[in-house]
Amino acid sequence: MNNILTLPGLIDCHVHFREPGMEHKGTMATESAAAYAGGVRTVCEMPNTNPPTVSIEAFQDKVRRAEKIHDVDIRFFFGATEAGHIQEFRKAWSMPELRKRLVGMKIFFDHSTGDQGANTAVIEEAFKVCAELGAPLVAHCEDAAINAEARELMLDQVSEATDVSLHSLMRPCASEARAIEQALSLTRTYGTQFHIAHLSTALGIELVRDAKKEGLPVTCEVTPHHLFLTIDDYETLSARGKMNPPLRTAQEQKALWQGIADGTVDCIGTDHAPHLLQEKESGNPLAVPSGVPGTETMLPLLLTVVAGGWPHPNGKSQTGNAKISMDDLRRLCFTNPNRIFNLNAPEEEVLQIDTTAEWEIHGEELHSKCGWTPYEGWRVRGLLRESQQCKHTA
Ligand code: DOR
Ligand code: ZN
Repeated sequence: MNNILTLPGLIDCHVHFREPGMEHKGTMATESAAAYAGGVRTVCEMPNTNPPTVSIEAFQDKVRRAEKIHDVDIRFFFGATEAGHIQEFRKAWSMPELRKRLVGMKIFFDHSTGDQGANTAVIEEAFKVCAELGAPLVAHCEDAAINAEARELMLDQVSEATDVSLHSLMRPCASEARAIEQALSLTRTYGTQFHIAHLSTALGIELVRDAKKEGLPVTCEVTPHHLFLTIDDYETLSARGKMNPPLRTAQEQKALWQGIADGTVDCIGTDHAPHLLQEKESGNPLAVPSGVPGTETMLPLLLTVVAGGWPHPNGKSQTGNAKISMDDLRRLCFTNPNRIFNLNAPEEEVLQIDTTAEWEIHGEELHSKCGWTPYEGWRVRGLLRESQQCKHTA
């Protein structure tokens, strides 16, 4: 059939699989089944589990668990909220049996799920040590002080803060820009191989574009949810649309697509962050946990754009500049993350995709333990061959 295209098994360089400690939201087995069904064969998993991955012991435990998962290759980031964690990371980096699964270090400039926000001294030490080791450093860039200030301001202005769209105002664009500026300044000082997670703003794109021109060793990723959703989606998603960094305006969204078009954006990583619907829908929407699932839906959403469509039910009007080719998809979801994180993922074209097939996304048919999706009912193009749609061995 001539409508079948092939791709290597994709890489999702940013996932939260919740194991250990939050297995009610997801496990390595359930979330890798979701990844597999989305054509993802290698993932980089984040350290905000319980216990957090900030010690050799916690890292070894994750490695042992990952050895039982066969269809998806799970690699891990090491976290740090204290100087001692960076020393543990240094040791782990020198241990060959751990290095096989150790991608690099992940730090948070502000708290998010798991409260792994680090202070300035720890952040600087992470840049220094990663540079020395030649290890990739990934950061969640939101400035704690700007977020705190914006939050106070909002709480002063509204009598009862229950509108979830306030979340976007409490974590403003300027906060991302400030954290990126600080990070780039540390990159300049130490020469760290630095990667910005889930870049979500026009200002952020501009800073990365300039930093690359300057020759700094910086790369970045954007998420499918920032590419396909905006603050207008709070209306249908309510607190299901709450994540960090938050949903932005259509203008910011446009800048992300522009960043893809001009090569400023290196990767698409999903920030797959399952939380149960129950957790997302009870109590004050502003207090529910942040995060959306995404690893299973990245490929069909992108294939729809490759086919010249726009999967959002709002029609193409909103982001007229969304455009990618199959080559872009391969670069963003395979070649670039493979190179940036030294993953050595196999390049064989194992995915077979019927590019003309159309289907509708329904949370209950997806594999994540959380059982929902922010793209409920969306019509997408591109289907993996049937035998590749779900995982056969755990
Ligand atoms: O929305 C988010 N969810 N952002 C993060 O930084 C963490 C993630 C999670 O683990 O739930
Ligand atoms: Zn994340």
